[in-house]
Amino acid sequence: MAFRTLDNADVRGKRVLLRADLNVPMHDGVITDTTRIERVLPTIRELVEKGAKVVLLSHFARPKGKVVPEMSLAPVGKRLGEILGRPVAFAADCVGPQADSAVAALKDGDVLLLENTRFHAGEEQNDADFSKALAANGDLYVDDAFSAAHRAHASTEGVARLLPAYAGRLMEEELKALSAALEHPKRPVGAVIGGSKISTKLDLIGNVLDKVDVLFIGGAMANTFLAADGVKVGKSLQEADMHDTAREIAARAKEKGCTLVLPVDAVVSREFKAGAESEVVSVDQVPEDTMILDAGPKTAELISQRLAELKTLVWNGPLGAFEIEPFDKATVEVARAAAALTGEGKLLTVAGGGDTVSALRHAGVADKMSYVSTAGGAFLEWLEGKTLPGVEVLRAS
Ligand code: 3PG
Repeated sequence: MAFRTLDNADVRGKRVLLRADLNVPMHDGVITDTTRIERVLPTIRELVEKGAKVVLLSHFARPKGKVVPEMSLAPVGKRLGEILGRPVAFAADCVGPQADSAVAALKDGDVLLLENTRFHAGEEQNDADFSKALAANGDLYVDDAFSAAHRAHASTEGVARLLPAYAGRLMEEELKALSAALEHPKRPVGAVIGGSKISTKLDLIGNVLDKVDVLFIGGAMANTFLAADGVKVGKSLQEADMHDTAREIAARAKEKGCTLVLPVDAVVSREFKAGAESEVVSVDQVPEDTMILDAGPKTAELISQRLAELKTLVWNGPLGAFEIEPFDKATVEVARAAAALTGEGKLLTVAGGGDTVSALRHAGVADKMSYVSTAGGAFLEWLEGKTLPGVEVLRAS
């Protein structure tokens, strides 16, 4: 690791500002997925055991610099306490007198959660005074929020410049997995890239092309590649203005020795709804009045077979409209094939970003990949080859 970790930190009796990403999905005030809470537990436990005063910082949702009561972190703190199995105090502000007195009341091994950092405009502006106000409540800073590291905000970047900064255990784990997947992978390495639009994944495809030996394209994005190649895709979602780009990508892949794998068959339907009547056709026989909603069984088999030739796989995005049955089959089959190879120790699989985790969960294999990132946007930016400010600042520290 090119930066300091908890191995190098003397935290006993110190106020440790721990930046976590507690931006968990919530519906009608109920947390619907506690993964991000669970994944930060090892760092919290280690700090508690080492006798630190743990002061948790996080953003939640997008209140845009104002206090929005529905976006309070209080319910997240309550849930964290239940999962952690020890009290988690809460302060109704992340800076100022309320934060100061809550921090001052901490004993060694106590845990405190401060209110949503985004209730202050200075957070997203990475404002120097706001960073200073946050830093005032810490002796050192530990960053475990890889999933927020693409944001150069006060709590992810500014504070790290003001205090001795360390990577937490989750941050370490994310960076190790990501580096094993694309920076120093065991070859051959492949990537499954799904999604609906090439236009939103151009940088990502461009970067990944340079690094992988095989690129499997899925989702509606594949329709654009097929259409650019003269295939008639009926009413399928595709981007007519991206045909030149798709052809350029295909040519670049060839030049780089990266095999681009597109669907050879497809599940088509006249309607996009659960249980809609569907049929499997070869991609060159898509009826004019239908749309492609999933890759077909031959494609799923072809991809699964090719996975067996790989040593490393990066996965981002589903192969079809997996949220709606029966258009989930290709994603499920390929995810299970990847999981089986992972289980046999033949393939290192790293997945993350957007819908990917829910697709893997739907296939019942989210816990059977080598590593599933907690990050959405940050995972995508990393796949795009961008530097993440929240990671860079740790390197410099
Ligand atoms: C995420 O959920 O991807 C992170 O918490 C970042 O949230 P944001 O997109 O609102 O900055």
